[in-house]
Amino acid sequence: MDHLDGLRTRLVVDGGRRLEGSVEVPGAKNAALPIMAAAILAEGEVVLHAVPRITDVDVMASILESLGARVREQPGGTLVIDTSSIASHAAPYALVSKLNASFDVAGPLLARFGRAQVPQPGGCVLGPRAVDLHLKGFEALGAAVTLEHGSIIASAESLTGADITLDRPSVGATENIMLAATRAKGTTTIRNAAREPEVCDLAEFVNAMGGRVRGHGSSTITIEGVRKLRGVEYTIIPDRLMAGTYLLAGAITGGDVTVKGLDPAFLTALTDALSASGAQVTASGVSVRVQGNAARKPVDIVTSPFPGFPTDLQPQFVAYLSLAHGTSTVEETIFDARFVYVSELARMGADIRVAGRTAIVTGVERLKDAVVEAPDIRAGGALVLAALAAEGTTQIGGLEFIDRGYEFFEEQLATLGASIARASAVEPVMPRQDLGETIRMPRIVTPFRAS
Ligand code: EPZ
Repeated sequence: MDHLDGLRTRLVVDGGRRLEGSVEVPGAKNAALPIMAAAILAEGEVVLHAVPRITDVDVMASILESLGARVREQPGGTLVIDTSSIASHAAPYALVSKLNASFDVAGPLLARFGRAQVPQPGGCVLGPRAVDLHLKGFEALGAAVTLEHGSIIASAESLTGADITLDRPSVGATENIMLAATRAKGTTTIRNAAREPEVCDLAEFVNAMGGRVRGHGSSTITIEGVRKLRGVEYTIIPDRLMAGTYLLAGAITGGDVTVKGLDPAFLTALTDALSASGAQVTASGVSVRVQGNAARKPVDIVTSPFPGFPTDLQPQFVAYLSLAHGTSTVEETIFDARFVYVSELARMGADIRVAGRTAIVTGVERLKDAVVEAPDIRAGGALVLAALAAEGTTQIGGLEFIDRGYEFFEEQLATLGASIARASAVEPVMPRQDLGETIRMPRIVTPFRAS
């Protein structure tokens, strides 16, 4: 196990502190990634503001550069993307395999070059990450789609608008088909389209470039093909999933946290569930405040496409429910395997039983410190929340996942009063009997303390 060599970097959290204060919400990862891919459509320079500084953005930038684009980072989360010199339509496996959203380059490449060659995407292990709906959409627009040596190849002399009904409101398929249709001849209709705010942000970006997308935010989106799309300056919407994670940090520690800079309508499903659990929620203008409540009531949730309860806040909410006074059920309807993290919460004393796509969460009196490992981005957020509420000092590995999706995570939490820092394990301490290993307890070497 690599932590035996003491070289592992982990988040070290001293739990049991109430979080209080307010945080600004960064730009949304799940809007920035498809918008960066959509920059391929603009013959010219695109300037994006409020791009979160996370490794998923770095990977997407590298994919664009591998295609021939120039990507420059400016201070304060601004990216300048010049795609005028793009000459390739083939995205490299080494990069695509790191990021599920990288498949979003397929639609823009197909629209601009009449050809896209993109390996089957990788990303979080949440269950199969199929792209069949994307491909059906491309074929409906007139593209021929084949699978060769692990890469999907879509090609077309020209694309023609079509009436497409999705079997399920897939975020990625809605986005990819929208982008492919932007320069098709005639009008495309996407029925049973995803309604997520990030899909709407992508549509607004396309329209800012001169596109004609209508109906986004509803289940039926129409795209009128245009001949040309121009470079544009655009600001990414705030990240509702980061915002929800900070609000849950306040709730799980019995604290009082306000997130600023986002439309409360982005988080209604979460704030309704928090209110049902007994937390006090105050929404106004562009901020949401949550005051935690020690007498936390159990709440049953079912994840579903927007505006339902977001699957990307399911792990974090389960961590919160693990300290409720009673039993909750959480049904995951979007992904096949999104409860992998439960075993890590159990190591901290949570009482959660998983049966298929449902978790039965029986609240416990307290969570206790442990050495845990994040298996994916949102599970990383859940483990941090559990550590903030737990007694003792918890170590969280898998920072490569946390860094994929959470900008300045420990810094923001520290400004709310958390004791949290990155540390590399440097000294042997007590052996862990159950696994016969010597766990090297980290000495804080790079403490972050709010100034
Ligand atoms: C987007 O993924 C998000 N990622 C995910 O966030 C989010 O969980 C998901 O939407 C659902 O809201 C980005 O936006 C970058 P889907 P995406 O297409 O587009 C199945 C995070 O942590 N499906 O709506 O991949 C698929 O297997 C990530 O930020 C098909 O069967 O989601 C999955 O079970 C995790 N065929 C379900 O639909 C298809 O062609 C949801 O997929 C496409 C999808």
